[in-house]
Amino acid sequence: MLFEGLELVSALATLAACLVSVTLLLAVSQQLWQLRWAATRDKSCKLPIPKGSMGFPLIGETGHWLLQVFSKIFSHEALESYLPKIQLVIQDTLRAWSSHPEAINVYQEAQKLTFRMAIRVLLGFSIPEEDLGHLFEVYQQFVENVFSLPVDLPFSGYRRGIQARQILQKGLEKAIREKLQCTQGKDYSDALDLLIESSKEHGKEMTMQELKDGTLELIFAAYATTASASTSLIMQLLKHPAVLEKLREELRAHGILHSGGCPCEGTLRLDTLSGLRYLDCVIKEVMRLFTPISGGYRTVLQTFELDGFQIPKGWSVMYSIRDTHDTAPVFKDVNVFDPDRFSQARSEDKDGRFHYLPFGGGVRTCLGKHLAKLFLKVLAVELASTSRFELATRTFPRITLVPVLHPVDGLSVKFFGLDSNQNKILPETEAMLSATV
Ligand code: HEM
Repeated sequence: MLFEGLELVSALATLAACLVSVTLLLAVSQQLWQLRWAATRDKSCKLPIPKGSMGFPLIGETGHWLLQVFSKIFSHEALESYLPKIQLVIQDTLRAWSSHPEAINVYQEAQKLTFRMAIRVLLGFSIPEEDLGHLFEVYQQFVENVFSLPVDLPFSGYRRGIQARQILQKGLEKAIREKLQCTQGKDYSDALDLLIESSKEHGKEMTMQELKDGTLELIFAAYATTASASTSLIMQLLKHPAVLEKLREELRAHGILHSGGCPCEGTLRLDTLSGLRYLDCVIKEVMRLFTPISGGYRTVLQTFELDGFQIPKGWSVMYSIRDTHDTAPVFKDVNVFDPDRFSQARSEDKDGRFHYLPFGGGVRTCLGKHLAKLFLKVLAVELASTSRFELATRTFPRITLVPVLHPVDGLSVKFFGLDSNQNKILPETEAMLSATV
């Protein structure tokens, strides 16, 4: 009897400890999200803070004029104009990877690549390569400390993050000022140009502070997510040579890869890419099985019931993308990498709107999803048509999910070029990219 009583007390104590831990965990995670906004934004920024959502402060409330601006930034025409520049940045990067005598750390290099894409293509900055390298290091310091506790002491992560943000904002201000001078009277060719122009059209000329915050958030949204997906793509192509070969066959059939293995001259177009059905399946499957972001936060606007549980208005809830993909009944053999599940014959994702949501769902879905998919498709085409690559370790690395999904030791891979020009850095790449400013 005494023992039963003790067991009951111990069970209650464990239950209480669990409840306290869960409450603390939720409180800390909410604090960290709030801190992320505080860290990316300068206090003097007048852009609206979102209501009823933990979404991007830059975007603010749904229906805000900025949403219309963003629809232009990621419109079909805008994507068509980014495409040749994205292809050049990727080709140049793959050439550099192939000319490297040793294996490279793919995750680290993919981060540099997506940072370069955001700076050169999305924002159209013509920052010299050395300065870009320095800016990247500062940016990494900023990102590493975004989720630190708000303790403003020397050497604390918080202080390092704030210092990095200040250096970044200085660098961005210089680049924005140079760009504003150079673009006067020129055609608009990137997201930053569109942001500036469209805000003027809406009678809301943006201040320098708002432009700096806006650019920093665009880089933040694009950088880690796309680097994670790029790394997963390379890892899956390494693990599944049959998938890579099928991709090459599709490229050959569309005249993008000649039978001798030599890459086709010329640049890709959006309609060419949308005709590559198997490529689409491969990207979709990478995003299903290796979704970079675990989920998102929402504030409950109306009380609702889910599986017999009442979720009251005003609560903060988290939806899980990863668990949804793992448990969605529409996917057969969920743990198997099988791009053909998205083929026209099978279309496993056709039933139900919310079984497949690598880019989130609802009104706060990812605004850059078409750009991200375009980037991944070009990367896959260039990898398949111009590169041979081998895993440089005996086994594949372990995957971790925090802060985004990535291989623990970064994925070590040796790249070799397929064509005779492969190891040369083409001077026209830099020339074309700087011509955009
Ligand atoms: C593979 C790459 C990417 C993935 C997996 C991804 C995923 C996501 C997800 C899941 C959300 C919604 C978060 C939530 O529910 O609260 C989101 C939001 C967002 N993403 Fe992406 N994203 C990617 C790339 C990009 C790129 C390249 C950009 C553009 C530069 C971008 C811009 C945004 C923005 C602005 C939002 C906020 C939308 C809002 O709050 O209304 N993303 N992304």
